[in-house]
Amino acid sequence: MPLSFSLRHDAPDALDTPLLAIILPSEPTLPETLAALDAQFNGAIARTIARRDFRGGKDETLLLVGGERGVQRLLLVGRGSAPLTRTTARRAAAIAARQAGKLGTGAMYLYLPGADPASIEGLVIGAAAGSWSYPDLQTQPPEKDRRARLASVTMLADDTAANRAALEVGIATSEGQNIAKRLGQMPGNYCTPESFVEVGQDIALRHGMQITVLGRREMADLQMGSFLCVAQGTTQEPRLVALEHKGGPADQQPVVLIGKGLCFDTGGISIKPAPEMEWMKFDMMGAAGVMGAMEAIGRLKLPINVVGIIGSTTNMPSGEAVKPGDVVRASNGKTIEIINTDAEGRLVLADLLVFAKRFNPAIAIDAATLTGAIVIGLGGNAVGVFSTDKAAADEVLAAGVAAGEPGWPMPMWDEYKEQIKSDVADMKNTGGRAAGSITAALFLQEFVDGFPFVHLDVAGTAYSQSDLGWIPKGPTGTPVGTFVEFVRVRAQQ
Ligand code: BES
Ligand code: MN
Ligand code: ZN
Repeated sequence: MPLSFSLRHDAPDALDTPLLAIILPSEPTLPETLAALDAQFNGAIARTIARRDFRGGKDETLLLVGGERGVQRLLLVGRGSAPLTRTTARRAAAIAARQAGKLGTGAMYLYLPGADPASIEGLVIGAAAGSWSYPDLQTQPPEKDRRARLASVTMLADDTAANRAALEVGIATSEGQNIAKRLGQMPGNYCTPESFVEVGQDIALRHGMQITVLGRREMADLQMGSFLCVAQGTTQEPRLVALEHKGGPADQQPVVLIGKGLCFDTGGISIKPAPEMEWMKFDMMGAAGVMGAMEAIGRLKLPINVVGIIGSTTNMPSGEAVKPGDVVRASNGKTIEIINTDAEGRLVLADLLVFAKRFNPAIAIDAATLTGAIVIGLGGNAVGVFSTDKAAADEVLAAGVAAGEPGWPMPMWDEYKEQIKSDVADMKNTGGRAAGSITAALFLQEFVDGFPFVHLDVAGTAYSQSDLGWIPKGPTGTPVGTFVEFVRVRAQQ
């Protein structure tokens, strides 16, 4: 059952619920609005605060057991000393939702004293993230041992009308993230290029978008020799999927979102080492992020034109596979010497960037799990943001901060271009280990013709190798939030 969200204006002491989670800041005092509830709990809330059992630290929780009726369980959740933002609210709500899942309460009320519309958005996105899972491939325990999944979240708000739009944005964004995370968690034998066609068709149908699907033949007709060389080693049909959301005036140039969709990346002939290779099922999170963003944009009916383009295949070694030294020609005519078949994402993106030109983009933004180097450089806490256009980069960086998916600007200086010069072709597909994320971005820039372009390297941020406390190990939802926020802001201009 999908998780449903609602807003309600009510006193915390008037509720009849299996669980009320109250989100409090560091070193809290008992809010006036909780005095009556505290009385119902015989003063336990005030006492636990006075004793400093609960101090409101980030991720801190304390459960108080209530009676048969009314608030049957009370969960205090700390949000720490940082200012209340969409991101801090998101984290606390995710912690609450994970606790609700462990208790099996099925329903939960959330009360964040002082919540504004931005934090309401955060509560929705966080509660959805904290209760997300991909149980499809695991046998479930027998009915009697099962804990109910969280099915309904009600947020207390003084002015429900003022928060209605925030609720919708939160729901749309989390539905988009759910789509992306599901694709990301699906193993490579379940998530194939065809999965992106199916998800794309479903989004197109539900939101009245135009969809274009290309396979090997159509891409060959367009001379996409760069994308197609990556697909040489797989028997799967590679797919290019384009979704067009026409929410703006017919003559408005669209925002174009582009995603790398490698359903699995073995490295190809330049094969990767075995340890942790299974992680490479996540190499489609850029494309999943585009799909998730198109879902949210469609749900919100944003008054702007947006095109989402994904390129999907699987990078495999085989007798037919592309090999080091081969030279391929991209659809803009440029030739590429393949140095390392494991630098395949940029080869797919090259032809997508050329394809994007036909939509006459106002701006194109790609997201890709492009380089291991960005994982080394920025780790899991910042998206690598690359652009030769400072204003465009700043706009994307601002969207990332607002969405709780912060990025960090990286240089794209000409000096680095030396590293991808080739003796036999127009360029090489790798520039060595030094500045590996930057040379990858400079490679992409070679296929951009006449529109602002921002590249997001999400290799470190789209998938977490460890439990982050607020969300489990696995796909994080990045870059869906950044895309949605960017498009929302553009739609308001
Ligand atoms: N999908 C990988 C990037 C990646 C590697 C993400 C490790 C997360 C962890 C990409 O296709 C890749 O293999 N890149 C190579 C490029 C190199 C051969 C120039 C890399 O980063 O090692
Ligand atoms: Mn690779
Ligand atoms: Zn890859």
